[in-house]
Amino acid sequence: ADEPLVLGIETSCDETGVGIVRGHTLLADAVASSVDTHARFGGVVPEIASRAHLEAMVPTIQRALDQAGIAASDLDGVAVTAGPGLAGALLVGVSAAKAYAYALGKPLYGVNHLASHICVDQLEHGALPEPTMALLVSGGHSSLLLAPDITADVRPLGSTIDDAAGEAFDKVARVLNLGFPGGPVIDKYAKEGDPDAIAFPRGLTGPRDAPYDFSFSGLKTAVARWIEARRNAGEEVPVADVSASFQEAVTDVLTRKALRACRDEGVDHLMIGGGVAANSRLRAMAEERCAAAGITLRVPRPKLCTDNGAMVAALGAEMVARNRPVSAWDLPADSSLPV
Ligand code: KG4
Ligand code: ZN
Repeated sequence: ADEPLVLGIETSCDETGVGIVRGHTLLADAVASSVDTHARFGGVVPEIASRAHLEAMVPTIQRALDQAGIAASDLDGVAVTAGPGLAGALLVGVSAAKAYAYALGKPLYGVNHLASHICVDQLEHGALPEPTMALLVSGGHSSLLLAPDITADVRPLGSTIDDAAGEAFDKVARVLNLGFPGGPVIDKYAKEGDPDAIAFPRGLTGPRDAPYDFSFSGLKTAVARWIEARRNAGEEVPVADVSASFQEAVTDVLTRKALRACRDEGVDHLMIGGGVAANSRLRAMAEERCAAAGITLRVPRPKLCTDNGAMVAALGAEMVARNRPVSAWDLPADSSLPV
């Protein structure tokens, strides 16, 4: 086959991901997560994450190669997340990718984490339309990005000015004593609750507010205050209703702003990625609103939405296909790498 065969390494946060793709075809997606180790701290501890990446790196590469059933010598390149992310965690992946690529005599491609969250959708739905509007929502980022060319031109339109969407899910879950990470649990409880039970605020949706920026810290505080008042009054907290109403507020703002960006920029394709894209209400609401607006929605399956190596490989393969420049051997890990 002449489609590029690429191995991708992702270590920007707490998942050690190694994926292998051939063009738009997923061949392997091996992920080792240290999330359970972080759970008792209520969030990701950077030093623990770096250490866990170091231990998981070589076995995870081996697992991906076994899954794909390919010989490493057949690879057309090794791609790695160069940033943004946790500095120490990124460094482990970048060092491993350099060593591996150099030893094999293969080209190295440093890629942007946000761009690969978008590009992964090629493994689900084929070639990305150009331009694509992307809503990226995870524990570390919440951004609206316009992507005329995923390998070379991704423009940030707006992002959160305080908490990321996933961070808000995690913090609200913490107040409700539901554990970490909070998103999946709140998603589950919300299914039994009434999304209109409590009117929580929609941040930055006023006529004079930045149209594509997000703010979730006020919402998080409003939810915490509401729960506190209930507890102080000796009343039981209706977990399902709080979850559903909070989730409704987040997804309402996310979809409203994403659709507005599509309309303003004249883009008729929206992709949603990042861990929060696994949220069932976000998916349903986006489907409904995109259908009404004549916009084609692309959301990868949940396993491809959370951090993984396949997304890095997908972007690497696109770079090979388009003859994009190779990274130098002194490629730095950049914790605040811009798109
Ligand atoms: O993309 P990801 O795996 O890692 C980061 O780069 O942050 O995203 C993890 C985030 C966490 O905040 C988690 O609570 C959230 O995604 N998340 C969800 C759901 N599943 C994961 N949030 C809402 N609903 C979900 N079903
Ligand atoms: Zn991510």
